[in-house]
Amino acid sequence: MNVTFDFAGNNFVVIGASSGMGKQTTLELVESGANVLAIARNVERLDELKKNNPAKIFTASLDVMNATADDWADVLDDFKTAYGKIDGGVYSAGIWGLTPLNGFDAELAHKIFDTSFWGMVNFIQMATKKKFSNPKSSFVLMSSISGDYPSKSLFAYSSAKAAVQAAMKSFSKEIIKNGHRINSVAPAIVATEMTDSGMQTAVAGEEMISRHLLGLGTAADITGMILFLLSNRAVWITGQNFFVDGGYISGSYV
Ligand SMILES: NC(=O)c1ccc[n+]([C@@H]2O[C@H](COP(=O)([O-])OP(=O)(O)OC[C@H]3O[C@@H](n4cnc5c(N)ncnc54)[C@H](OP(=O)(O)O)[C@@H]3O)[C@@H](O)[C@H]2O)c1
Repeated sequence: MNVTFDFAGNNFVVIGASSGMGKQTTLELVESGANVLAIARNVERLDELKKNNPAKIFTASLDVMNATADDWADVLDDFKTAYGKIDGGVYSAGIWGLTPLNGFDAELAHKIFDTSFWGMVNFIQMATKKKFSNPKSSFVLMSSISGDYPSKSLFAYSSAKAAVQAAMKSFSKEIIKNGHRINSVAPAIVATEMTDSGMQTAVAGEEMISRHLLGLGTAADITGMILFLLSNRAVWITGQNFFVDGGYISGSYV
């Protein structure tokens, strides 16, 4: 039996669509029949992404650190005019950086929080309005195992990812008035640009990597859970965080 997701006729938003897990999510949603509003800052990368399926990928350049309510409303309005209301969204934008307690860069710490947390709050607030989303829409947020198991010198990133989970649980009780669901996914280490950019060497030594019983992840190892949570196979799931960790948590304890 070959069971695949069928999102024909559905519309989704993906934030952080120009790279890594957001890009993979966009490609898989489109492959499964959905139209996608793909959001990130880098216009060249968004243009490249659009080439994969120009009819189904609608791009918008937005910096989630500075985006106002009007900015979010404008991009959702433009997409609605072209394709209709959304059926949900995936918030995957995030940046990473070390913030050791003694001597951390406060500006960097705020940027980390603004990108993973406040940008997400602003998006969810606008996207869950009746004006922009169909009833029973599904939203998926990107947390991290570091939200529950923070590494040394990673308090800003870890706190932002823990805050994502707490907000998600709180939002689930409010947005249910429109029938909407919301969940988060917490990956362990996944090979993307984020990990290439020094995370692996700075935080994840050989010992930490070896705790991933199934090896380090790829973006496609995470998107199965994301698409499942967006789909109608997950209609009884809301307010939950899901670890997709290659056995990392299990492998951390003897
Ligand atoms: N990779 C891992 O091991 C791992 C593990 C656990 C959780 N996560 C989380 O998973 C999510 C995706 O990570 P990834 O590994 O796929 O990272 P990635 O490849 O670096 O992609 C991050 C995405 O976020 C976008 N972004 C960053 N800052 C933005 C801003 N100010 N405004 C709009 N878009 C912005 C980037 O696009 P532009 O640069 O074009 O704006 C890019 O599309 C992040 O939230 C990350 O914290 C990652």
